[in-house]
Amino acid sequence: MTGKNMKNDIVNKKDLKQLVIRFYGKLREDKILGHFFNHVTPVNWNEHIKMMYGFWENVLFFTGDYSGDPMRKHVAIHKKHPFSLSDFTHWNKLFIETVDEMYKGENAEIIKQRAQSISTIMQIKLFK
Ligand code: HEM
Repeated sequence: MTGKNMKNDIVNKKDLKQLVIRFYGKLREDKILGHFFNHVTPVNWNEHIKMMYGFWENVLFFTGDYSGDPMRKHVAIHKKHPFSLSDFTHWNKLFIETVDEMYKGENAEIIKQRAQSISTIMQIKLFK
């Protein structure tokens, strides 16, 4: 493959931003998960996406400005409208699919692995 068909790795903040925009764009429209963001705890999408740049930058490059408490937020969501295991399975699948659509390389592998780890920890805490 050459030129525009060649996938690059996630090498900088700009690449990460493109990923975040695409992933949360999908979540927003998603039949299974969209309602959490649009109805259960409605987010301001501009604000949410901005915050998620920082979160994912922390996860991949350790440089983001995110300093929230995701576990506390998801526990609160779970109380209002319980997550199911299959919600997380779907989230994981969407995340991996989105990374694979856009990027290929070491950082692409790392971010998928870290996302899965965080997701697993969340599930263990929520479903214990
Ligand atoms: C079933 C899967 C998931 C759903 C439906 C979901 C839904 C949501 C929703 C609705 C919010 C907004 C909460 C609010 O502003 O009150 C949120 C925030 C957030 N989510 Fe998730 N989430 C899921 C899984 C995950 C996973 C696996 C991660 C990490 C890998 C994650 C990371 C975050 C972070 C960092 C925030 C921002 C928390 C803050 O305000 O500081 N989420 N999520």
